[in-house]
Amino acid sequence: MAEERSIDTLPFVASLNEVRETLVRDPEEYWRRVRKEGRELVERRFLQNGFVWGREPAPSAIIAELLARVLQQPSERARKRTALVPGCAYGRNALYFARRGWQVLAFDTSSRAIDMAREWMGWDAACSGDVDFLVADATSPTPEALGRHSPYDLVYLGKTLHQFRDSEAEALLRLLHGLLAPTGVLAISAMARSGEVFADVARNGVMVDTHTYDVRGFRPVRFYSEDQLEELLRHCGFTAVESTMVQEPETHSRSAHETSGDSHAHDMLFTIGRRVR
Ligand SMILES: C[S@@+](CC[C@H](N)C(=O)[O-])C[C@H]1O[C@@H](n2cnc3c(N)ncnc32)[C@H](O)[C@@H]1O
Repeated sequence: MAEERSIDTLPFVASLNEVRETLVRDPEEYWRRVRKEGRELVERRFLQNGFVWGREPAPSAIIAELLARVLQQPSERARKRTALVPGCAYGRNALYFARRGWQVLAFDTSSRAIDMAREWMGWDAACSGDVDFLVADATSPTPEALGRHSPYDLVYLGKTLHQFRDSEAEALLRLLHGLLAPTGVLAISAMARSGEVFADVARNGVMVDTHTYDVRGFRPVRFYSEDQLEELLRHCGFTAVESTMVQEPETHSRSAHETSGDSHAHDMLFTIGRRVR
């Protein structure tokens, strides 16, 4: 029988030397390989490890949902609330919003993750049919497809923005600005430029762009400070009403449909934005 291994024991897609050589040869080739090989690794991770961050919603998703509900205008409370979830993976947060009565559009580049999300929705009578799960790329989106339930009262970007280059993050935030209701809430959790994980990555990884490091081979992570994320939001037509640190616990399962495994938490920067125009 084939030995079952956690993704963390699988060989990296490429060595960090290959990352360095590619960057010297042609930085754009590095980013092309991120889109191809980085995504293949994510796909493989869902195929082999199933619900890699467990099935509970992220703490930031619970807070975002509550805030968006509280901040909704009384005149808008009669209609069904709408949420957009870019980088939804297998849908743990999107399905939580649906269970709380939201109409949701959620998307991810991983077709395996979207299959898992649709399957999960099928088992879960409390949210059946309330989420449209799409395979789509946030860096080259089709605004018509993503606008299906717009304007959105909540856009939840959990642990996703830090995977984008600065130019891609800016383009996405501008698109989201157009899809968010004037009174809506934009909630972002992103890797923070502080703490142990950042120190470790900065020490051992390859710096591939501004505040962006690669430790896994064509899997860059952009680390944000509170000021930088707030500045980016301002630049894209939002105002950051609150920024704080939040602990996002994760359970890395060892095989598909198994939830026991390595448990740990990430310190994430959690920022709430609202439209200024
Ligand atoms: C760290 S995971 C977080 C998933 C989810 N927010 C959660 O907390 O369960 C980031 C997700 O973003 C997705 N992703 C990365 N780049 C993307 C892109 N350009 N467009 C859409 N999804 C993307 C990945 O496939 C992955 O599922």
